Amino acid sequence: MALVTTKEMFKKAYDGGYAIGAFNVNNMEIIQGITEAAMEERAPLILQVSSGARKYANHTYLMKLIEAAVIETGLPIAVHLDHGDTFELCKSCIDGGFTSVMIDGSHHRFEDNIALTKQVVEYAHSKGVTVEGELGQLAGIEDDVNVAEHAFTDPDQVEEFVGRTGVDSLAIAIGTSHGAFKFKPGQKPQLRFDILAEIEKRLPEFPIVLHGASSVIPEFVAKVNQYGGQMPDAIGIPEEMLRQAAKSAVCKINIDSDLRLAMTASIREHFAVNPGHFDPRQYLSPARAAIKAMVKRKLVNVLGCSGKA
Ligand code: G3H
Ligand code: 13P
Ligand code: ZN
Repeated sequence: MALVTTKEMFKKAYDGGYAIGAFNVNNMEIIQGITEAAMEERAPLILQVSSGARKYANHTYLMKLIEAAVIETGLPIAVHLDHGDTFELCKSCIDGGFTSVMIDGSHHRFEDNIALTKQVVEYAHSKGVTVEGELGQLAGIEDDVNVAEHAFTDPDQVEEFVGRTGVDSLAIAIGTSHGAFKFKPGQKPQLRFDILAEIEKRLPEFPIVLHGASSVIPEFVAKVNQYGGQMPDAIGIPEEMLRQAAKSAVCKINIDSDLRLAMTASIREHFAVNPGHFDPRQYLSPARAAIKAMVKRKLVNVLGCSGKA
């Protein structure tokens, strides 16, 4: 099995009423934790790389680690650029072997978003690479930019956007947000399933993507704080809402914050219990195991993609 695009994955996910997990990767332990879970569950996977991850770990290191994961697991794995913001970045990732890219023109005016997205689609498709576009804006922190309010996706724009750009999937804003603080303390988590339903009507059989979909699992936040962390109240997207979304046209669900929390909670606990340790393998082994357990829980309880590889 070689790296795959998202094309066939999304077709099967759409028809099967489940979603593929798109997990952000930054280093070897994260890649191993995710892919070990997926291997045990026989689940297809998207491993996504942000421009920050690419700066941190280097394109070639990440590609080679992901290629190693394909060899080790035999799973269908897509390697995807998360939140590409320029044609040049998307081109560099395509030329460097990514099988899927996101061009995020959501903060541009509608016509400018279309022009930029179309330019990326033309290049990507000429190389057999799939493209995710975005309409609407999520609240939250993304690449150090803090967006205060959601700009929900306008269903009246989606057909024109998809038709004119030729994108293979569309990220939408229905109330999810990036980071660990998605709702204010006391606020009831809510997603605009009415907007999603309207978009599904306008785009039959078309894969939809949800960003900002970590559940901010309370036991991890509690553990971070139990072992010296000082996180304020953090509230994510309830797992049952994501499960509901995964049964609809939503074929890709993005998860990063839950990985960060699982890893940090484990490392904090490790040092609290073993203050004398200084071999990175001693604290990175349980951190990798924590990621694996968390990803398994997502594949089984939330995404519904176990056994679909
Ligand atoms: O949506 C953003 C992802 O969580 C990636 O975050 O840009 O800090 O790597 P990053
Ligand atoms: P979370 O911050 O909810 O994990 O979202 C990650 C994401 O959308 C990456 O693109
Ligand atoms: Zn995102």
